[in-house]
Amino acid sequence: MKVPGPVELRRRDFLKAAAVALCTAPLAGGVVYAQGKKPKVGVIGSGKVGSALGGVLAKKGYEVMFSSRNLDNDKKLAAEVGNNARAGTTQEAAAFGEVLIFAVPYGALPELGKSLGSSLKGKVILDACNPFPQRDGDIATTAREKGAGLMSAELLPGARIVRAFNAVGAARMAQAHEEPGRIGMPIAGDDKAAIDIASRMIRDIGYEPVLVGGLAMGKYLMPGTPLAGEHTPDEIRKIAATVQP
Ligand SMILES: NC(=O)c1ccc[n+]([C@@H]2O[C@H](COP(=O)([O-])OP(=O)(O)OC[C@H]3O[C@@H](n4cnc5c(N)ncnc54)[C@H](OP(=O)(O)O)[C@@H]3O)[C@@H](O)[C@H]2O)c1
Repeated sequence: MKVPGPVELRRRDFLKAAAVALCTAPLAGGVVYAQGKKPKVGVIGSGKVGSALGGVLAKKGYEVMFSSRNLDNDKKLAAEVGNNARAGTTQEAAAFGEVLIFAVPYGALPELGKSLGSSLKGKVILDACNPFPQRDGDIATTAREKGAGLMSAELLPGARIVRAFNAVGAARMAQAHEEPGRIGMPIAGDDKAAIDIASRMIRDIGYEPVLVGGLAMGKYLMPGTPLAGEHTPDEIRKIAATVQP
């Protein structure tokens, strides 16, 4: 029998490590879905946007935990939503969710990034938060200069951010699943596996995801830009081709 040389041994170690990584990486490219399971969802901010998105996801079979600074409200909301819904603190929701939906005023992100710290590392985050200086203060002005996607990535370090749900009305977010795929959802992100997972979830909510580019394109995913409002997927592709990162 041929004795393996050092190169062959290193190759075997590499393949073994790669196989282990593939089996254990909980969020690598849709693995959570491939096992027939849906990822658990932590909703950070359960107002108009968070309650609409979390409500639809619970209906679609996702386990959802709602959170805000008011646990009593979140418990009431979870009871109204019923099956698959529960309430917790923001810390509990961040730990519970394999995917997190951030739906808070932009001004809350610096503090949440610090308080949730390590529980955000490696998490897929759907970032619906928009910066408005009059509501959110200086951080919103900076976010508008830098672009909301790149700013969110700085404020929530280690997370795998996909900007989504930024410029359609919250009430409509709860209805899109009634005519699935008709309305496009522009999204922006830099992490392919996170984009795949976000896309699957967005389809379940009823929108057709359209990747318009990396996080640098996140600056167009907010009210007041050509991509804002409801558009078909084709319209989004055409509009996205006219704007630059
Ligand atoms: N409304 C829309 O149609 C719409 C559409 C797209 C995107 N957006 C954006 O999405 C975000 C949420 O909008 P919304 O309309 O859902 O706002 P909202 O109804 O005011 O809800 C905000 C939620 O965040 C919670 N929250 C605020 N500060 C928090 C903190 N420091 N820690 C934890 N939770 C906190 C609030 O609860 P407590 O104050 O009790 O903690 C509330 O549950 C905003 O950035 C907004 O610009 C809104």
